[in-house]
Amino acid sequence: QVKIVTIGGGSSYTPELIEGFIRRYEELPIGEMWLVDVERGKEKLRIVSELAQRMWDASPYQVKVHTTLDRREALPGADFVTTQFRVGLLEARIKDERIPDLHGMLGQETNGAGGIFKAFRTIPVIGQIIDDMRELCPDAWLINFTNPSGMVTEAAIKKFGWKKTIGLCNVPTIAQMRESGNIGETEEELTYQFAGLNHFHWHKVTNRDGEDVTAEVLKHVNEKNGGTPVNIYQEPFPEELLDSMKMVPCGYHRYYFMQREMLEHSIQEFKKGGTRAEQMYQVEHELFELYAQPGLHEKPEQLGKRGGAYYSDAACECISAIYNDRHLRMTVSTENKGALPCLAPDSIVEVSSLISARGAEPIAWGEMPPAARGWLQLMKAMEECVIEAAITGDYGLALEAFTMNPLIESGKEGKRVLDELLVAHEKYLPQF
Ligand code: NAD
Ligand code: G6P
Ligand code: MN
Repeated sequence: QVKIVTIGGGSSYTPELIEGFIRRYEELPIGEMWLVDVERGKEKLRIVSELAQRMWDASPYQVKVHTTLDRREALPGADFVTTQFRVGLLEARIKDERIPDLHGMLGQETNGAGGIFKAFRTIPVIGQIIDDMRELCPDAWLINFTNPSGMVTEAAIKKFGWKKTIGLCNVPTIAQMRESGNIGETEEELTYQFAGLNHFHWHKVTNRDGEDVTAEVLKHVNEKNGGTPVNIYQEPFPEELLDSMKMVPCGYHRYYFMQREMLEHSIQEFKKGGTRAEQMYQVEHELFELYAQPGLHEKPEQLGKRGGAYYSDAACECISAIYNDRHLRMTVSTENKGALPCLAPDSIVEVSSLISARGAEPIAWGEMPPAARGWLQLMKAMEECVIEAAITGDYGLALEAFTMNPLIESGKEGKRVLDELLVAHEKYLPQF
C-alpha cells in the first residue's frame, strides 16, 4: 500500500487532493496519508486534517490521516512526497504583490518581483526537504506543486540532485478541459502538445484525424471560458498576434504581451479591493469556516474561487501513472532532454510527457519560432539567476535577475523594490 506525505498539508487545496485520491483508490490503494505543516499553520492543519479524515470516513475506504509539525516524523518509508507549502503563508504573498504595485510594477504571485521572492523563500526549504528525503525515504518521488513550480522543480533536480522530481501546474489541465468544449469536441478526442516553461508555455492541438485544429482553438482564447485560470485578468490578446503565433499562449503570457494593460488592471484592483493575495485572504477565511463544520464530508464548491482549482487531477493522475506504469500523456515540469532544442538539455521545461514508473519522458517539440525562442531563452536565463541567487544569497545576481525580468523596471526603482522586499521578508531569507 502506498504512503503519501503532503508538505504544506494545511493548505486549503488539501480537500481537492483527498477527493482525487478517494476517486482513484481502486487503482492507487493508499495505506496512510501524512499531512505536514509548521507551527504557524497548526490551526489550518488541524481543521483541514479533520475534514480530510471525515472525507475518507465517508468513503468506502479506510485510510488514516496523520498530522505532524515535524516532517522527519512523516517521511520514513514514503512513496510519494507532495509539496504544496507557502513559506510565510499568505501574509508573505501580500508583501510580494503590494510592494511592486506601490512602485508601479506588477505585483503577482509567480511573475515579476513577487515571483522571484517566492522563489528566494522557497528554494532553500525544498533543499532541506530533499536532505531529509535522502536519509528517510531515498526511493520516494517528489511531486512538486509549490510555486514558482518550474523554478522550484529546477532547483530540486539540478541543484539538489533529486532526479525523481516532477513539477505540476493546473494551467494545462484547465486549458484542455475548456478548449475541447469550446470547439465542440471531447478532451479524449484531441491531442494536446505543450512546450515552454511553467506559466510560460504554448500549445498546439490536433484532432482524432491528426488534423491541426490550433487555429480553431485560438478563435476562442479571448472568450470568457477561453481556458485561463480565474486568478488572471482576461485582457484580450491582439488577434493578429494570435494568428501570427499559430500556437495557443498560456494565460500568464498576458502579463508579458499586454504588459501595460495588465499592470493598469492590477493597480486598479489593488486600489479598489487590495491585491489578489489580500482578496484570497478573505476567500481562505471563508473556506476554513466551512471546513470546520463537522457536517461537511466533501470538498465544498467555493474552492473553485481559487486559481488552483483542479490541481488534484494533475497530482493524483501523475502519481497513479507512476504507480501503475501507465505511460500517460501529461504536461509536467521535467528535464528538457532535447525536447526544446533552443534550451539546454538539463534545463527544466514544462512539456507534454509520458508518465510511467520511470517518471516523465518529454515528447519532442522541435524548433520554436524566433519570437518564442527569444522569450524562452531570456526567461530561462532569468530563472537560472534567480535559482543561483536563492541558494547563494548573491545580491548582484538577484539584481541581474531583476534587471532582466521584463516585468520589473531596470535602474534605481527596480533596485528599490529589491531592497524593500529583502527587508520585508528578512526572516525567511537567511541566505541573503
Ligand atoms: P497556504 O498559504 O495555505 O500555505 C499552505 C501551507 O503551507 C500552510 O498551511 C503553511 O503553514 C504551510 N507551510 C509554510 N511553510 C512551510 C514549511 N516550511 N513546511 C511545511 N509547511 C509549510 O498556500 P496555498 O494558497 O494553499 O498554496 C500552497 C502552495 O501551492 C503555494 O506555494 C502556491 O503557490 C502553490 N500553488 C501552486 C499551483 C500550481 O499550479 N502549481 C496552484 C495553486 C497553488
Ligand atoms: C493558478 C496557477 C497557480 C497560481 C494560482 C493562484 O491557476 O496555476 O500556479 O498560483 O492559480 O491562485 P489564487 O487563487 O491563489 O490567486
Ligand atoms: Mn501554476
